[in-house]
Amino acid sequence: MTRKSTVVLGMLGPTLDTGKTPERWSRWRPSVALCQHEDLIVDRFELLYQRRFDALAGTVMGDVRHASPETDIRGHVVEVDDPWDFEAVYGALHDFARAYPFAPDREDYLIHITTGTHVAQICLFLLTESRYFPGRLIQTSPPKRDRTELAAGSFTIIDLDLSKYDRIASRFQKEQREGVSFLKSGIDTRNAGYNRLIERIEHVAIASRAPILLMGPTGAGKSQLARKIYDLKKGRRQVSGDFVDLNCATIRGDGAMSSLFGHTKGSFTGALKDRPGLLRKAHEGVLFLDEIGELGADEQAMLLRAIEEKAFLPVGSDREVRSEFQLLAGTNRDLSQEVAAGRFREDLLARINLWTFRLPGLRERVEDIEPNLDYELDASARLLGVRITMSRDARERFLRFSTSREALWPGNFRDLNAAVTRMATLAPGGRIGPPIVEEEIARLSEAWRPAPAAGGAGGGEDGEDLVLAALGARRAAALDPFDRAQLAEVLRVLKGARSLSEAGRVLFAASRAKKKSVNDADRLRKYLARFEIEWSEVAGGG
Ligand SMILES: Nc1ncnc2c1ncn2[C@@H]1O[C@H](COP(=O)(O)OP(=O)(O)OP(=O)(O)O)[C@@H](O)[C@H]1O
Ligand SMILES: [Mg+2]
Repeated sequence: MTRKSTVVLGMLGPTLDTGKTPERWSRWRPSVALCQHEDLIVDRFELLYQRRFDALAGTVMGDVRHASPETDIRGHVVEVDDPWDFEAVYGALHDFARAYPFAPDREDYLIHITTGTHVAQICLFLLTESRYFPGRLIQTSPPKRDRTELAAGSFTIIDLDLSKYDRIASRFQKEQREGVSFLKSGIDTRNAGYNRLIERIEHVAIASRAPILLMGPTGAGKSQLARKIYDLKKGRRQVSGDFVDLNCATIRGDGAMSSLFGHTKGSFTGALKDRPGLLRKAHEGVLFLDEIGELGADEQAMLLRAIEEKAFLPVGSDREVRSEFQLLAGTNRDLSQEVAAGRFREDLLARINLWTFRLPGLRERVEDIEPNLDYELDASARLLGVRITMSRDARERFLRFSTSREALWPGNFRDLNAAVTRMATLAPGGRIGPPIVEEEIARLSEAWRPAPAAGGAGGGEDGEDLVLAALGARRAAALDPFDRAQLAEVLRVLKGARSLSEAGRVLFAASRAKKKSVNDADRLRKYLARFEIEWSEVAGGG
């Protein structure tokens, strides 16, 4: 592999690089000295200077050629009226950087920051950090007085890609671990998928201001996570405003527009004074719209505009209001289905699902039930103000049940929290033993039992399992949820019936009463034939 060429970009230093008489050679001049290091070969030097320093630039370039014949030095006039005016200097250097034909695959760039005004140094730093100058900074210093160093002095190269510095990188990692742990409320979760998910959320929360959509079943922790994302960002000084949250299901109807976007006094009957609205309250902060799928069509349209243009019109006002907020949205509905059904704007969904994270329910992460149990026990202890312990038998029994197939946890954390709260409250002396656990398991099992079918022909079997048994997983998966739910109920009734006619009497209870002649068995047989299912295959004979 051939060595990359080393190219220095630097400003002429009208003070430090100065000198015309032969004495100049005994003085340290940063731009010339930079080319005199034995351990730094400068193949090319791009010297930036103002036209009024033309003569000095000529001397310096000549001296560099003399001291370092291998260096190809080139001058560039960069005009700035006032070298202490930040905007002017940044603008001029930015223009230079954009026009310069950087070829980082062939050349290594060193940006010299020892010369030029402090303003120029800051601008060079910023432009290098933002990669307009795709290189590293180089800082030079004069030789020490004791002259043990060479007359060229010394240099230090600073790479602004901080991840390259081990000690700094380990600080970042520590900070990231703290952030992840914070988002998990300190719970040491074990489910690998969940842990990856939270790590990703931490990363995005810190790196981005784009909308984030949190999906997942009820009680999976969407609202809590939204709040924690805000707290994390606030702690890292990424937001200065407030956390403003709204459950969109609570604002249907007339007041919805005004609570979101505000209104002006007198804009409708009852608008007695101006109302700022939640979007304005969330300025520079975070707006969490929970159940965003519940927003009405008008609100969706306004919200889209507010996200895209950071501006909107309050009700009854013709003056635009600006608000910059980060949007977090929560939903336990599948929004793409809502779009398909015409209830949610496709363009709004496209805006908010740049970052979509689906929080799994407890049943999908049974290995986390134990750490979550400990968390809930601690929380109950704090709430009740007593020490809560759980005997080993009790704990094992509870975990065996909690992680079994029977444990549905439909309310997820809410169910777990309620179960632990009940056990902790009932525990004599704060000690949860097996009887308390058995009682709780019985209570949960009862609560989670599927509701019996109308007509009482239900055999208590899970209809979903019957669909799988009758069709096999692949064919079952190809069904629409609508057909699947219907078939599940039909199979459940069939399973508990002695004949097709008996099942038909249950399933067609309403419509058969209006018919002159009934043949329920035939109706059912035809229905089953659509799925290529025979009565004999599914009969329970019960
Ligand atoms: N990671 C977690 N660990 C422990 N408890 C949690 C966690 N996340 C949420 N909880 C608790 O579970 C309960 C439900 O959480 P949350 O309100 O965030 O759920 P949700 O997903 O927003 O539900 P919904 O869809 O019904 O609004 C709250 O009491 C919350 O404190
Ligand atoms: Mg919620």
